[in-house]
Amino acid sequence: MSVKPEGPEQTGGSRPKTTVLTLAEKRRRGEPITMLTAYDYPTAKLVDEAGIDTILVGDSLGMVVLGHPNTLSVTMEEMLHHARAVSRGAKRALLIGDMPFMSYQSDPAAAVRNGGRFLQEAGMEAVKLEGGRAFAETARAIVRAGIPVQGHIGLTPQSMNTLGGWRVQGRSAPAAKALVEDALALEDAGCFSLVLESIPEGLAAYISERVAIPTIGIGAGAGTSGQVLVIHDLLGLFDRFTPKFAKRYAELGQAMTAAVRAYRDEVEARAFPAHEHTYAIPDEEWRAFLASMGEAFPKPVKGSRP
Ligand code: KIV
Repeated sequence: MSVKPEGPEQTGGSRPKTTVLTLAEKRRRGEPITMLTAYDYPTAKLVDEAGIDTILVGDSLGMVVLGHPNTLSVTMEEMLHHARAVSRGAKRALLIGDMPFMSYQSDPAAAVRNGGRFLQEAGMEAVKLEGGRAFAETARAIVRAGIPVQGHIGLTPQSMNTLGGWRVQGRSAPAAKALVEDALALEDAGCFSLVLESIPEGLAAYISERVAIPTIGIGAGAGTSGQVLVIHDLLGLFDRFTPKFAKRYAELGQAMTAAVRAYRDEVEARAFPAHEHTYAIPDEEWRAFLASMGEAFPKPVKGSRP
């Protein structure tokens, strides 16, 4: 079956640039907001052309691209390197750089400087940081510098050691109340949006009604203003584990393995490269070349065509 390429109206090619105001407007109209992670040029281009509203260069980079066991070892330099590639690939989506562990926790001045680097050096248009009330003043300082901030509460993987692992958050009454207070504090600090990760669906819907900014859920049910997934989970490219909330829309990992095996088999069977993959030299040039080498007759290299 051949798949007809989508026109610009489906791919987002003719859509205007997405900004923080676009997201606010979508929330006001009750239209779901789409967000995905990307870490490189080709993926960002595909995601952008598919019409996704927002691309997050997430610190999940550390796990799904760099092979670390968690996100804690990701550095600012690594984030900037990948963010630059993403900004070269995406034209329309709002681009958000994820502030890595220890790029904002120590003091607000460092947070503003590092937040600024995402915009100044990597083409990002906003930053995301993990943490609730404890980081509201940090978020406020970054926003004051003219950098839009997306908050991130619930399961905040950079705090996995204080949370005791990757666990669903907000499951007790006090924990749920604390998350509502976190959300309100971040909204008050000027955040343009909030990521709600791994919290009960009812609580995410409750928070989404109480704040006036878009909420983007991941493992937070259907009552948020939008959804985000790590693209490697969506495409079936990360097989160490699949979180309960992640839906696999494709099995690209299996498709890649099959393609690589087919290549290996064809090279080993001398079936690749075929004639259509090779270049030729005009006969007279070949003869002249051989003559210049002192060889009167064509001597084909083993396995090659003249
Ligand atoms: O790093 C990341 O990919 C994230 C998303 C899961 C929201 O923070």
